[in-house]
Amino acid sequence: MAESTTAFTVDPARLGGVTEQPLFQAAGRVAERMGVRAFAIGGYVRDLLLARPCKDIDIVCEGDGIAYAEAVAKELGAGHVHVFKNFGTAMFTLRQAQDPGEVQVEFVGARKESYQRNSRKPEVVPGTLRDDQERRDFTINALAISLNAEDRGQLIDPFNGVQDLERGVIRTPLDADITFSDDPLRMMRAIRFATQLGYLIEAPTFEAIRRNAERLDIISAERIHTELNKIIAAPVPSTGFKLLLNSGLLVRFFPEMVDLLGAEEKFGIGHKDNFYHTIQVLDNVAERSEDLWLRWAAVLHDIAKPRTKRFEPGRGWTFHGHEDKGARMVPGIFRRMKLPLDEKMRYVQNLVALHLRPIALTKEEVTDSAVRRLLFDAGDDIDGLMILCKADITSKNEAKKKRYLANYEVVLQKLKEVEEKDRVRNFQPPITGQDIMAAFNIPPCKAIGDIKTVIKDAILDGRIHNDRAAAWPLMVEEGKKLGLKVVPGMEKSEA
Ligand code: CTP
Repeated sequence: MAESTTAFTVDPARLGGVTEQPLFQAAGRVAERMGVRAFAIGGYVRDLLLARPCKDIDIVCEGDGIAYAEAVAKELGAGHVHVFKNFGTAMFTLRQAQDPGEVQVEFVGARKESYQRNSRKPEVVPGTLRDDQERRDFTINALAISLNAEDRGQLIDPFNGVQDLERGVIRTPLDADITFSDDPLRMMRAIRFATQLGYLIEAPTFEAIRRNAERLDIISAERIHTELNKIIAAPVPSTGFKLLLNSGLLVRFFPEMVDLLGAEEKFGIGHKDNFYHTIQVLDNVAERSEDLWLRWAAVLHDIAKPRTKRFEPGRGWTFHGHEDKGARMVPGIFRRMKLPLDEKMRYVQNLVALHLRPIALTKEEVTDSAVRRLLFDAGDDIDGLMILCKADITSKNEAKKKRYLANYEVVLQKLKEVEEKDRVRNFQPPITGQDIMAAFNIPPCKAIGDIKTVIKDAILDGRIHNDRAAAWPLMVEEGKKLGLKVVPGMEKSEA
């Protein structure tokens, strides 16, 4: 197996003393009183060993998890216990002095679990700790720490999860076909953990993902996009996309992205593989920004290339209009994936629509007016747009890349200058429709829009300043051209 690139080191010393904390002390006392055995388990133990920040704590007991949770909450004087009868789980929020201040503690009775095919509704049968560990997704998530008097603080690791943490390996505790068929979302989780932690998915586990990929179809879009977003938010998201592609999962929920794959050739002329280009752009953006939606814009910036691809004799491969078509595809993709259809989506759409503009500017002399128009169209999205644009320069031809990057810097510099001078980002027209109606004493009509457009263009072209005093005479002049009469005393702006 190739060496993994994990950025985390396992530190068993972190286990020492952990059971001294008041929650685990109380959990131990209550377990003893009730005659049950209890353990901290799952992601909490994994993250403790990896020294990652802890969020939630899961506690499993060999017995009635709900009754146990209520008793522990009482012992601690904790607040309300939320009970989820259908799932046999209960949780409460614990406020504590140390970081992170507030944690959710979730309790469950240990269980053997079997799922019916085509449904996620489990049939739950009480079981032992070992049964419970077996039915978890990965060996690194099946670690438990005893909270019981006889062996408090001991790590219980029946599937060599610690070794897998050290080696950087994702592997299922049971036969992977069983683990994945119990909950097919785990296939996405395997890739998500591999991407977040820089781990490798062991061959038999990966083969099982390939075999079971179709089973992802029973999983809800929300659960899928939660994992996908975690992949996109990881330090090197391309790792996850390659695994999603090669496992056969990506095509199940994101076929448009799979369509980007491949480089066609005609008469010896090829084009770049837009799948690998896209994930390179995504990595480039990830190096500069944590913003999930900017990263989504990278994922989708070329999404319409397959649909706009033409071979034009004399010109080679073209993708005319892929930016507009791509922007129009965004809502459909967001709707299907149950991603938010709000200003986040509009941000992604805007960036996809504008992604060629900054570099296109550099094809000719970069004029102030072209830069002003870009700033006007992008508004507050300009900063994200410029990050995306730079990330999009992935040419393998070093000379070309250097030239593009130099041009990019010119545009960036010009943007700064123009912005300082002209304040056209989030442009507010200096003259409103109300002003025009009052100045000419006219009701709402087409002339108002026409006059406003002339003023806007004059500002963006740099013919007049972006202020009322400069715009007023132009309004008067344009109104006259349209046969309108200025109300006496309103020839000049009061400002
Ligand atoms: N688990 C599982 N199968 C799933 C989801 C969760 O076996 N489909 C188990 C794992 O043991 C996991 C634990 O439940 O560690 C808690 O799950 P969750 O809180 O969703 O994930 P974490 O592993 O804690 O990771 P993260 O918080 O990063 O999602």
